[in-house]
Amino acid sequence: MSMDHFIDRRAFLASLGALTGAVPLALRGGYVPSWLRAGAAGTPLRARAQTKGLLYGSSTLARYLRDDHTFEARFAEECGILVPEWELKWEAIRPAPDRFDFTAPDFLAAYAAQHSMAFRGHCLAWHESLPPWFAATVNRSNAETILRQHIATVAGRYAGKVHSWDVVNEAIDVAGGRPDSLRASPWLEFLGPDYIRIAFEATAQADPHALLCYNDYGIEFKWPKEHAKRAAVLELLGRLKSSNVPIQALGIQAHLRAGDPGFSADELATFLRRVADLGLKILITELDADDRALPKDPATRDQAVAKTYESFLSVALAEPAVIAVLTWGLSDRYTYFNKMRPRADGAPARPLPLDADLKPKPAYDALARAFDAAPARPSTGAPK
Ligand code: XIL
Repeated sequence: MSMDHFIDRRAFLASLGALTGAVPLALRGGYVPSWLRAGAAGTPLRARAQTKGLLYGSSTLARYLRDDHTFEARFAEECGILVPEWELKWEAIRPAPDRFDFTAPDFLAAYAAQHSMAFRGHCLAWHESLPPWFAATVNRSNAETILRQHIATVAGRYAGKVHSWDVVNEAIDVAGGRPDSLRASPWLEFLGPDYIRIAFEATAQADPHALLCYNDYGIEFKWPKEHAKRAAVLELLGRLKSSNVPIQALGIQAHLRAGDPGFSADELATFLRRVADLGLKILITELDADDRALPKDPATRDQAVAKTYESFLSVALAEPAVIAVLTWGLSDRYTYFNKMRPRADGAPARPLPLDADLKPKPAYDALARAFDAAPARPSTGAPK
């Protein structure tokens, strides 16, 4: 389609809008439907990734989709996989030891199904986001029963509807000093290292279809701490595989630091290959780029964030075992940085593909280019 034709149509629609007041309203809300966006940028990320057998999507909170229609429309267009940012964590679904509340995750699972999106579960065994009653209730004698019952109930409820589960999240802490580098947590305290096997076996039993993942952060850059953590994660994965624990994938969170000089394409590529050699798939599960070290100027930050996305994705997507990329949010309108890791200068963070007005940023284009340049995969690792 020629650009001239495109512009005429836009002029035509604008005049129509003037008549009906529809288009200006949509444009005012920041939402520009893909077919109105100029050139290649009009192809949503979901479609670009799909042409390569990859999945692109994002985390979200239920209320963003339920209450923000311009955001919701854009999410449906851009995302082929959805992960609840909070609603499947213990804290969210376990208001009391004997009670589950699935209102929000049911909404998100149904939303994903209605929009032909894959649905990810996050997460079943983690040391954070545990409910207030947990410390007073869970102990050495009941921890295994409670963990197994939780997984059977939660993973069982969405069985066959989940693309992949983060079964265990962030279990490695090299600084903790253990020979196995396992992080101190209530699960480790009550059940020992075996809690990881228990969690994976219980999830495999509850949902034999989902890809079962170990998910972690701080394994993307070449700094010594991250180098050591990659080695500890590889050891853990090797141990689990050699003891036939039903693990199928590694989730790399990829909370990157924009402008960090410590990116090594070789180190990352070698690590990804070693994970793949264990017969595991790889998912990029929580991609964003922290811009707190950068000057306030949005354009400067956006360029650095895009460059960080591009360097990382060009290496990650060259590895055929990588089957999905999720950003930890789609738009700067909703990023956990502003709440949990605000900039010292108070400026809103800009870590994500779309700006707060849902307009594509250089990071969006970096994602698009990375998918366009990626070698095609045989499959997206959809439910077995
Ligand atoms: C964060 C969410 O973004 C916040 O909204 C919530 O308050 C706390 O958790 N690693 C993870 C995610 O695995 O679950 C965390 O998400 C971010 C870091």
